[in-house]
Amino acid sequence: MRALTVCPGQAGSIDLETVPPPPLSDGAVLVGTLALGICGTDRDIVAGKYGWAPPGGDRLILGHESLGRVEEAPAGCGFARGDLVVGIVRRPDPVPCAACAAGEWDMCRNGRYTERGIKARNGYGSELFRVEPDFLVKLEPALGHVGVLLEPASVVAKAWEHTLRIGARGADWKPRLALITGAGPVGLLAALIVKQAGMDVHVFDRNDSGPKPALARALGAAFHTTLGEIEPDVVLECTGANAVVLEVMDRAAPDGIVCLAGVSSGSRTLQFDVGEFSRATVLQNNVVFGSVNANRRHYRAAADALAKADKDWLARLITRRVPLAQWREAFESRPDDVKVAIDFTS
Ligand code: BGC
Repeated sequence: MRALTVCPGQAGSIDLETVPPPPLSDGAVLVGTLALGICGTDRDIVAGKYGWAPPGGDRLILGHESLGRVEEAPAGCGFARGDLVVGIVRRPDPVPCAACAAGEWDMCRNGRYTERGIKARNGYGSELFRVEPDFLVKLEPALGHVGVLLEPASVVAKAWEHTLRIGARGADWKPRLALITGAGPVGLLAALIVKQAGMDVHVFDRNDSGPKPALARALGAAFHTTLGEIEPDVVLECTGANAVVLEVMDRAAPDGIVCLAGVSSGSRTLQFDVGEFSRATVLQNNVVFGSVNANRRHYRAAADALAKADKDWLARLITRRVPLAQWREAFESRPDDVKVAIDFTS
């Protein structure tokens, strides 16, 4: 079968290779890949800046944003041939730590978790993959190809759940105004989920060309290219861009929460007034926290959010579907891109 493989740490090593069929040790359910979403993490791995090969080899099958159809599943495992499915990315550490033992591998405490297509486990970027039934999520069939948005939506579902949990420390905390920074796929999915929760949503992106402003407005959110005087109850920072992170860190209203959900891909030194930040954060009971990955509960919440969303709007988020034979194009950044997916069916 064909698979997109890469030698982590080595820029330019990505290739479409012929590899053996997936081993049974990856799981009892055999899935035929329909699509693979590409994100900043994949681009960092391709650039040699991130990623780990499975033990004993130097190449990794890339891909963690999956969508496929079940080809074979053991009787009684909860899946049947033809089901539309997405594979969960992270696996618990082998110890396991208390968080992984409780099924919260997204909160792993010893860092020994693995991630398909990212950290020491082959990913989903192959024509077939195998997966354990416990790490597979079934989607409503009507979602079709937009189901490839489930993984990024799960990351947002977790960030939102944790924001609300933290907010619950204060009596009757009812957030009203949310600021989402970044109108990429994660930012726009965040706008969707937060809007579904009934909030007044403001989306910030430094760029107002292309489809992003209209996608934000179609949700009923406001779109901004400058932050102005907005004082949000909640900030979901989805750019990972250092200057934006710095700008939003002390922006929240009293009792407000800033969730950093964008993984920064490079270091940059910026001036930061620690005293001012600490003073404002303490005096206003603010929280700045980080959120990564997602567990099964978040995948389910994300699947519900996608099922409730306007399917045409979700389809507009996928601005390019690149046939597998032209896979290189999927890793090019084009100005009007939101989500780019590789189509394994063409
Ligand atoms: C993925 C997460 C993963 C994180 C860190 C993100 O792109 O969506 O599932 O945990 O990268 O590796």
